[in-house]
Amino acid sequence: MRIEEKKVTIKGGKELKLRTVLREDAEKILAFRRDVAGETIYLTRYPYEIDNSVDKERDIIGNYLRAEHLGMLAIFDEDMIVGITSISPVGITFKTRHRASAELVVRKKYWNLGLGSYLLDQVIEMAGNCGYERLELSVFADNARALRLYKKKGFIECGQIPQAFKMMDGTYHDEIMMSKNLWRH
Ligand SMILES: CC(C)(COP(=O)(O)OP(=O)(O)OC[C@H]1O[C@@H](n2cnc3c(N)ncnc32)[C@H](O)[C@@H]1OP(=O)(O)O)[C@@H](O)C(=O)NCCC(=O)NCCS
Repeated sequence: MRIEEKKVTIKGGKELKLRTVLREDAEKILAFRRDVAGETIYLTRYPYEIDNSVDKERDIIGNYLRAEHLGMLAIFDEDMIVGITSISPVGITFKTRHRASAELVVRKKYWNLGLGSYLLDQVIEMAGNCGYERLELSVFADNARALRLYKKKGFIECGQIPQAFKMMDGTYHDEIMMSKNLWRH
């Protein structure tokens, strides 16, 4: 699905732009994913695992644009992607398709400017507009910054998977499942 482009003013007064990710952004999305995968331990892939071809990424973005139950948004500083969020269904069966799963990532240089919070508001709104009833996220149990953000926006912890993530250095991290009710009263 697509949304209307929006201006985003960050601390310090700089103006960035939020818009739907388009097929021609494929290369930028791949570069962004590789960059952020190397900046934080709290994503599920190492940089070398971001291995889609540009054509494949373009097709994936095309699916996000066509389908009413999928959405991918990015914040741009001039031509550079500095944050993304997306939603997709947890499942396609009747019993699971009321639940969406979200991703949220901001480039490290842009942390603590309110962009994560802004993107989360946008994805919550988008999920509601898509008709989803619950929005879910999974987070490394020691990712205090993300946990704080999600709780502030009404997500609740609903389970913990021990040793869910195995790192190259042999250490493990637990995973916390979070979920937010999207019912509008
Ligand atoms: C999690 C993430 C999206 C947050 O983005 P952001 O743009 O920095 O978010 P915001 O600026 O809106 O908010 C950051 C919050 O974390 C708080 N924070 C900063 N450092 C913190 C720390 N070490 N511990 C706890 N909270 C911290 C800030 O005070 C702020 O909270 P506040 O608004 O209540 O003051 C970003 O850090 C990121 O992309 N991290 C790597 C990928 C990731 O972890 N994604 C989430 C996967 S589920």
